[in-house]
Amino acid sequence: MAYPILFLIFLSLPFSSAKLSLKYYNATCPDFEKIVRENVFNKQSAVPATAPGLLRMFFHDCITDGCDASILIASSAYNHHTERDAELNAALSGDAFDIISRIKNAMELACPGIVSCSDIVAQATRDLVKMVGGPFYNVRLGRKDSKVSDAKRVDASLPTTKMTMDQIIEKFTAKKFSIRDMVALTGAHTIGFTHCKEFSDRIYPTVDPTLHPKLAAGLRQICQNYTIDTSMAAFNDVRSPSTFDNAFFKNILKGLGLLRTDYFLSVDPRTRPIVEEYAKDQQAFFKDFAKAMEKVSVLGVKTGHKGEVRNRCDQFNNNIHA
Ligand code: HEM
Repeated sequence: MAYPILFLIFLSLPFSSAKLSLKYYNATCPDFEKIVRENVFNKQSAVPATAPGLLRMFFHDCITDGCDASILIASSAYNHHTERDAELNAALSGDAFDIISRIKNAMELACPGIVSCSDIVAQATRDLVKMVGGPFYNVRLGRKDSKVSDAKRVDASLPTTKMTMDQIIEKFTAKKFSIRDMVALTGAHTIGFTHCKEFSDRIYPTVDPTLHPKLAAGLRQICQNYTIDTSMAAFNDVRSPSTFDNAFFKNILKGLGLLRTDYFLSVDPRTRPIVEEYAKDQQAFFKDFAKAMEKVSVLGVKTGHKGEVRNRCDQFNNNIHA
């Protein structure tokens, strides 16, 4: 009777022991770190919008069914309406997709068929955050890429600017993030852009009194043609738009945040004390952001046979998947 039990334990080992590790590619792709670092450096130096673009994409990928590069799959005759086609992903930056395909091409030349797209996304995001001034954190490796990508899954996972604080907190706590994690992660809005349509109801027809009047006047100017030119956008952080720092928290305490939900963070009694702490103490913000990003980066990770190492990041290997 002992044999079948032992056999069952043995069979389940490859799945349960398939843990993520910092050294995952040391033997199979020793240049992994260098390839990511060099490509990130070149791309970010040429296109500064890359860092915020990829940071946002990473969050959207991970929060929707895990960090599995499902967001990279392009719709095709076989796969309709993939995650990236969801309305909430419509404004994701083309440069974020571009940096991942550059790195993947370089990986395929150096060590074909070894490195997953989801590991590239996680590692490149960390390197970019660090490059623009943010904290370092460990990225454990060994994720596999998803075999499914479905736009319908996106709405259920992502917070939106139309939500109340209760609804946003619920989105994060459903994924086991604390309110503190949530506030720290939203500090990502210290870099990047927001398109006018996301805050137009705060400036037209009348100005939301919780917005700083000078910022409101500037935004009304920038966004005046936004319905015709939908690419019009403003910096998320008016003080230091390209540097990852704690200015976002100082801003929102003064009515200098673009999104209504960011304003909520600065007034809700559950979040305001944390915002005040981060506004005073950048190290406290960096420490919590790093910890929370490590947590994001292992959300719903697929290992072993639950995923695959894609040949191309925008296609499943067997293209005929649901
Ligand atoms: C709390 C809930 C959140 C809401 C409602 C929210 C919403 C938004 C919206 C509407 C934009 C503007 C997009 C555009 O117009 O192109 C944006 C930008 C951005 N978000 Fe969030 N976000 C949230 C949390 C987060 C988190 C947790 C992260 C990352 C850890 C993040 C990272 C970013 C970045 C980096 C940008 C700038 C993107 C770029 O410049 O391409 N956001 N967010």
